[in-house]
Parts: sequence; C-alpha cells; structure tokens
Amino acid sequence: MHWMNVDLAGDVAVVTGAGRRLGRLYALGFARAGAKVVVNDVDASAAARVVDEIEAAGGNAVAAIASVSDPAGAASIVETAVGHFGTVDVVVNNAGFMRSAYVAGLTPEKLQDVLDVHINGSFHVSQAAWPVMRDKGYGRIVMTSSGLAMFPMPATANYAAAKAGVYGLTRAFALEGAPVGIQVNALLPHANPLDDDNALMSQDESQRWTDSNWGTPAVESYLQPSFLELAHRRDPALVTPLVLYLASRACEVTGEAFAVGMGRYARVFVSEGRGWRQPGDEAPSAEEVGANIERIMSTEGAIVPRDLLEEHAFLGRTET
Ligand SMILES: NC(=O)c1ccc[n+]([C@@H]2O[C@H](COP(=O)([O-])OP(=O)(O)OC[C@H]3O[C@@H](n4cnc5c(N)ncnc54)[C@H](O)[C@@H]3O)[C@@H](O)[C@H]2O)c1
Repeated sequence: MHWMNVDLAGDVAVVTGAGRRLGRLYALGFARAGAKVVVNDVDASAAARVVDEIEAAGGNAVAAIASVSDPAGAASIVETAVGHFGTVDVVVNNAGFMRSAYVAGLTPEKLQDVLDVHINGSFHVSQAAWPVMRDKGYGRIVMTSSGLAMFPMPATANYAAAKAGVYGLTRAFALEGAPVGIQVNALLPHANPLDDDNALMSQDESQRWTDSNWGTPAVESYLQPSFLELAHRRDPALVTPLVLYLASRACEVTGEAFAVGMGRYARVFVSEGRGWRQPGDEAPSAEEVGANIERIMSTEGAIVPRDLLEEHAFLGRTET
C-alpha cells in the first residue's frame, strides 16, 4: 500500500457546528494533526468545552459564536480565523439540523430554516473565506451533503432539498475554485448521534434522538429493520479521516461527493446515460418518446460529466 502523507500542521481550519458530535470530532482531529482550529457553534458553552478539550491536549483553538445562516455571522467566523491565527486554509461546513415532517406538514418555517442553515450557511462561510484562499492560491472546503440528498427517505423533503443544494454548491464552487487552488468536496455521512457527553447513545437515547429529529412513527418503521441492524457500525469517528484527507494538501480531487459510514468510503456521482435520439431534426411525438423509454433509461455506456460543456457535448451527439 502507498501511504500518503496528510499534513495539516500549522493550517488554520474553521469547523462550523463544532460544539458537538461530528463537528467536535473533526475539530479534535484537526487539532491532533497540528492544525489551529476555529470552533464555531451557536451554542457558546458547547464550543467553549471543545476549545478547552483541544487546549488541554496541547492544541490551539478559538471559539467563534455565530450563526452560519446569517451572512454577518458567517463573516465573523472567518474574521475570527484571520484575526486570531492570521489566515484560513480549511473550511468544514458542518453546522446543520433536520426539521422533519411529511410533505403536507412541512411549514414554510421548517423549509426555510433548513435551507438557511445548510445552503445559505455553507454559502456564506465559504464565500467569506474565498478571497483569503484565492489570494494565497490555496484552500480546502469540505461541504456536508447527505445520502438523503440523493437517496430519499419519507418525511425529509426539506432536508433533501437543502442537502442537494449543498451538492450543487460543491460542484459550482469546485469549478470556480480549481484555477485558484481552492478544492471543494462533499461528505454524505452515516453516523450515529452521540449523547451530550459524546458517548454513543443507548438504545433509549437513540430512540429519543430519532423521535426529535425524524419525529414520525412511519419514518421509524421505514427505517426498520435493516437500517437499525447496522446501527452499531455507524461510529461517527469513522468520518473524521475522510474530512482530514479532503482538507489536506494531499487531496487532489475536487467537486466530488463521498459516502462515508460503517467503515466504507465511496464516491457518489451524477451520471448521464447515452440516451435515445430521434434521427433527423423533427421533434418526436410523445408516443415515440414513450416507445423509447427503455433506451432513455439505460445506464449502459453512461458517463460522469465534469461540467456543463462536457454534458452538453455528450447530449448533442448526433448518433441515434
Ligand atoms: N449524523 C448523520 O448521520 C448525518 C448524516 C448526513 C448528514 N449529516 C450532517 O452532518 C452535520 C453534522 O451532523 P451531526 O449529527 O453531528 O449534527 P448535530 O445536530 O449533532 O450538531 C450540529 C451542530 O451544529 C450547531 N448548529 C446548528 N445550527 C447552527 C448555526 N446556524 N450556526 C452554527 N452552528 C449551528 C449545533 O448547535 C450543533 O452543535 C449536519 O450538517 C448534518 O446535517 C449528518
């Protein structure tokens, strides 16, 4: 096996929503790797505990208490990084929450709050860091999408839309970032919630967490039994190594999304099939489209376009 040296020593990493669970684990991971860490959260005491933990272990960290959903709050997080540590090398957009309900029960507030924290939050913090990264020709942004953006579950339409939006941000930021040394990738994590002491939750606590996050009996029954059978393998600590790699100079990929959980790390990608084309320039009838639906649906010979130009050229092939 070829070992890759993932060196983060001296880098300045902003982790949003780092007061607990996944964000906290990333913050501790960055600190252990020698990075200076900006611990953002809306919960000041949670962020302070993580800063204390890092400092007690001999690391370097500062808290930045602000909401990522608010452009001024997001800017203040990056200002804390620059003011305290002189720059920003890494942004991990992790802050977020679910407000689950079936489609008919999704209030405008439940939609807006979830779009705000995931899409707007990831946008604002990344945009605030962008000029600093661009001017020095180096930056790494790790976005947090979700399997739910691509592979749906009931009662999570707002979250699916928000996390799909984050995937869109990942692709678009990566394209613009490539010429200026900024790489942007996304995680689709599967990780168990941790309790307030950051221990794996008991069955009861896990049930309460599921109720408060997903909150519908039907979702719970949808999740059973295959989802719950794998629960003991969804250790959140398994996500951190991927985050550290994507945040490092060793990482050469950009614009990609990675499913991570239960010990596996896998690329998730959007692909386009070869499709069907009607000979000539006449528009086909709806019946002709229907008659060719098998070819339209086929995944044989599908490609993974890098950008719109590649997709456009593939679509415009004149072969039938
Ligand atoms: N746990 C999973 O299996 C899973 C799966 C897919 C995606 N995710 C995503 O990973 C991220 C972390 O998940 P988690 O399970 O650790 O979440 P969590 O709810 O345990 O922690 C999120 C943290 O973000 C903070 N936060 C909330 N709103 C904020 C805001 N506006 N500004 C700053 N901080 C804010 C919270 O206070 C909390 O400390 C989230 O984006 C989540 O949607 C998690």
